[in-house]
Amino acid sequence: MSVVQDPFSLSGKRVLVTGASSGIGRQIAITCSQMGAQVVISGRNPERLQATAAALHGEGHIAITADLSQQEGIDQLVAVSDTLHGVVHAAGISKLVPFRLINKQHLTDIFDSNTFAPMLLTRGLLAKKRIAQNGSILFISALSSHSGALATSAYAASKSALLGAMRSLALEIAKQGMRVNCIAPGYVHTPMLDGLGQGGGNMDALFDLTPLGMGEPEDVAYASVFYLADASRWITRNYFILDGGLSTPMDIYA
Ligand SMILES: NC(=O)c1ccc[n+]([C@@H]2O[C@H](COP(=O)([O-])OP(=O)(O)OC[C@H]3O[C@@H](n4cnc5c(N)ncnc54)[C@H](OP(=O)(O)O)[C@@H]3O)[C@@H](O)[C@H]2O)c1
Repeated sequence: MSVVQDPFSLSGKRVLVTGASSGIGRQIAITCSQMGAQVVISGRNPERLQATAAALHGEGHIAITADLSQQEGIDQLVAVSDTLHGVVHAAGISKLVPFRLINKQHLTDIFDSNTFAPMLLTRGLLAKKRIAQNGSILFISALSSHSGALATSAYAASKSALLGAMRSLALEIAKQGMRVNCIAPGYVHTPMLDGLGQGGGNMDALFDLTPLGMGEPEDVAYASVFYLADASRWITRNYFILDGGLSTPMDIYA
């Protein structure tokens, strides 16, 4: 009887996950390790990153503390990364700021972490040939890139920019069999969302609009595993909304 290789397994793959010290990135790293991957995890806070490292399954994982809004942090991560079969860009920041109050500093802060870091890290990894043929790159965008929400102009713009970058990059790397996709989550229970809720405004009313209720980091992690696994080998330039049904018009509730 022939043994069938599980196309959803990450066994034998090495996956870099940024933003792995918290929330979605942390869970993506843990789930990837449960699915057999060796992971390189990165975040800014060393204690929280070590807590993720302690929760990983299996052996041979690497934890690198780096601020990816700084070129040195990106260079450090590129330097320590061996050949990668997957890269998940989950690091990001968010702040609710009405459009009339945005300024250059706010835009710079948001774009440095959410847009420039994943683009420049990807560029650095490609330039140093750190990504394997058939490698899979995944940008964690956000539903607001598609739908827009109040007081998220800079954040939404930073996440929309990833879509444009992803679609062009996909064409450039397809010849090497590499793929790049974007996942756009709706509201997911994480420290980031808790932080937004503390900024005032009735966030609970917004969260209640999701037909399936708010998501958990596991929900984004399972989708990420699919995009990293060979099961998705024919999927690139894809924008995948993962939102518990929030963004589809719901006239029946009107
Ligand atoms: N939660 C949601 O509802 C939701 C919805 C859509 C999209 N997203 C996106 O999903 C991703 C993860 O969000 P989350 O909710 O899990 O947030 P989170 O719990 O606040 O985690 C954010 C992670 O990004 C890291 N990070 C931020 N800026 C960084 C920088 N300059 N350099 C290196 N690491 C940096 C943080 O590191 P430290 O903690 O170590 O500083 C942390 O590990 C983000 O890109 C976010 O925009 C979230």
